Amino acid sequence: MKRFLSWRDDWYLGVEEIDNQHLRLVELVNHIADSLEAENPGSADQASPLELIQRLQVETRLHFRSEEAFMRECDYPDYVSHHREHAMLQAELRELLREIEEGRRKFDIDTLTSLKHWLINHVIDSDLDIARHLHKHKLAPAEDQL
Ligand SMILES: [Fe+2]
Repeated sequence: MKRFLSWRDDWYLGVEEIDNQHLRLVELVNHIADSLEAENPGSADQASPLELIQRLQVETRLHFRSEEAFMRECDYPDYVSHHREHAMLQAELRELLREIEEGRRKFDIDTLTSLKHWLINHVIDSDLDIARHLHKHKLAPAEDQL
């Protein structure tokens, strides 16, 4: 079965903790896609899409927190704008959850697709820039290991 979001090896930053969290987020997004496509979303034996997006919100918050701690540790120069991107996504997720809970929005695959694009663009543009910084300052494993 084709995955909703396929991990690509060139998304690895070479920082184990962050990479593992990214992999987990990708898995969670796929899990949410599966649950949206299931015949009875939210039936007794599985979490509802709403519960899953709440889980995504929690995981994302934890992930951003460790990524930000890591950026501070290695004196990453674009910390402020990166932090702003994280804050914007968290605000969007909060708003999305509120709209779903209040019944003003239906959580569907289109919404998940825009979250997916945000995640991919953020990892490719902003997170990989951290890896470039690490490499430039010889703080990271050699490039062939990235
Ligand atoms: Fe990030």
